[in-house]
Amino acid sequence: KETVVSGIRSTGKLHLGNYYGAVKNFVQMQNDYNCYFFIADLHSLTTHPTPADLHGNIKHVLVEYLASGIDPENSTIYIQSDVPEIAELYLYLNMNAYMGELERSTSFKDKVRANPDNVNAGLLTYPVLMAADILIHKATKVPVGKDQEQHLEMARTFGNRFNRLYNTEYFPEPYAFTYSDKLVKVPGLDGKGKMGKSEGEANAVYLSDDPETIRKKVMKAVSDGGPTEENQPKPEPIQNLFDLMKVVSSTDTLAHFEDLYNKMQIRYGDFKKQLAEDMIITTAPMRERILDIAKDDAYLRQVAKHGALKARESAQKTIKEVRSLIGFKSF
Ligand code: TYM
Repeated sequence: KETVVSGIRSTGKLHLGNYYGAVKNFVQMQNDYNCYFFIADLHSLTTHPTPADLHGNIKHVLVEYLASGIDPENSTIYIQSDVPEIAELYLYLNMNAYMGELERSTSFKDKVRANPDNVNAGLLTYPVLMAADILIHKATKVPVGKDQEQHLEMARTFGNRFNRLYNTEYFPEPYAFTYSDKLVKVPGLDGKGKMGKSEGEANAVYLSDDPETIRKKVMKAVSDGGPTEENQPKPEPIQNLFDLMKVVSSTDTLAHFEDLYNKMQIRYGDFKKQLAEDMIITTAPMRERILDIAKDDAYLRQVAKHGALKARESAQKTIKEVRSLIGFKSF
């Protein structure tokens, strides 16, 4: 079986972007692959270092993984900081990662632009830690959303560079994976770009949002006065709502509203109502499970412990072999 690795940063509750870009694929992949799904708490320290929030944020991701249907008996679910071998591999890979290539990463440039007062080395070397996450289990498939594509390219670069330097074929090449025809980018509700945790509460629909909250958010989503001629191309905020409908609703529903738009008969109120109801249908069962699982700390402790053991077993094997390739020997 091929090995799969993916993770989500512990920076808050999961939204529909995380679900359709990543977690939905995780759930489907666990039957066909040897899967490792983790909570990227070390990565979250680059932007979310507040000690009082850390544990709660880790818990959100753990609970929501389980509530989405990831089976801890089938997949290895673990917390990144429970596996120190990842940090060790990160150190080795850092010796071969160049400033220039790290500075050119678009996510680094975005972070610098968003927060010029906190350009820490962890942000710069973020893609190296991500490569370590993937290479530690020698994974070949990485289910992620569109925004992570460049990071996967960098993971291949670092793995290949290690192989060249030590004259080995040790690390296989990891590729971004999705079951849909292309990597998913779920737009937000603000009319501008992707759904994200940092773009403001109203921009994202969370798996744990109750039906009323979802209806309110969707009804307030940015739209416009409606098409002014037939078969008009859609302006960005409208296209975004259609893209959202494409991920949450049936193809018939989407085709119905496309048709109304093209005939200039669309009423955005009805369109949004339908979109909200379809979001509620997908999220409602998960929301119930989130509320239940979050109460069961004993179960969560057991899942995290079991996952850490399994992940460390795989990671320790890799680190032992990597140390030997690098040339460390015992006296
Ligand atoms: P993060 O925590 O930002 O997001 C987690 C996953 O959700 C996907 N995603 C989206 N997909 C589609 N549309 C959106 N609007 C959207 N927003 C988020 C992301 O693509 C991602 O798959 N660097 C990673 C975490 C990470 C990782 C790894 C992933 C660390 N190490 C190793 C895979 C393998 C990140 O910041 O994801």
